Amino acid sequence: MTDVQGGTAKSHGLRDYVAWHDAYADPSSSLSARLRQVQAQISAWLDRTPGKVRVLSSCAGQGHDILGVLERREDDRARVTGALVELDPTNAAVARDWVARLGVEFQVVEADAGTTSTYAGLVPADLVLLSGIMGNISPADIERLVHTSRQLCSPGATVLWTRGAQDPDLGPDIRRWFAQTGFAEVACDEWIEGTGMRVGVERLEADPERLVLGQPIFTFTR
Ligand SMILES: C[S@@+](CC[C@H](N)C(=O)[O-])C[C@H]1O[C@@H](n2cnc3c(N)ncnc32)[C@H](O)[C@@H]1O
Repeated sequence: MTDVQGGTAKSHGLRDYVAWHDAYADPSSSLSARLRQVQAQISAWLDRTPGKVRVLSSCAGQGHDILGVLERREDDRARVTGALVELDPTNAAVARDWVARLGVEFQVVEADAGTTSTYAGLVPADLVLLSGIMGNISPADIERLVHTSRQLCSPGATVLWTRGAQDPDLGPDIRRWFAQTGFAEVACDEWIEGTGMRVGVERLEADPERLVLGQPIFTFTR
């Protein structure tokens, strides 16, 4: 159920995830610091990954991470395709407009990213973006998301995740869950620009798993 506040649709019990993006307009915000690091890691991944690649962003918001990178890297636009999964219609519309303006081949899918069924036809991906999710779901859901991410991956895929240092600090658990799932850590940037933000990058070393439809993964709690 949604209602309309200040002209934007807001899900009951959850934050206003349209207004949430306003922090990106302030370069001094901690979210802008995180975004810079996420974008730097995406750029580094593009630099080391030649050829055609597919990207999946779960809970993509307005797409600032991957679309922000492609905004600056015009030469990569033709080789990067993918999908952005986002529940909020306003955010999805902003992302869709941005995709159209860049002329990139990205599907913006307005759907629940918290169930495996949504990913049918959208995966496997070479880069899976899990940015801005793990701070908003339960520890059990984070663990399930880490394990399930293997179903979203192509062989050798990279998964990027974020989780701040808020209490409880689950960073060490998340890194362990990725290791147990068959990933090798590429980077884990902490205290980014003096904030409590953390950005992790993992590469799948185990074989990917088949996507099993109809499995719940996570539910946002705020
Ligand atoms: C914290 S924001 C992060 C946005 C983006 N990934 C970023 O880092 O800029 C979380 C986003 O997830 C979306 N969201 C929340 N629950 C969702 C769900 N079940 N399925 C898809 N998107 C969801 C919200 O609307 C919001 O845009």
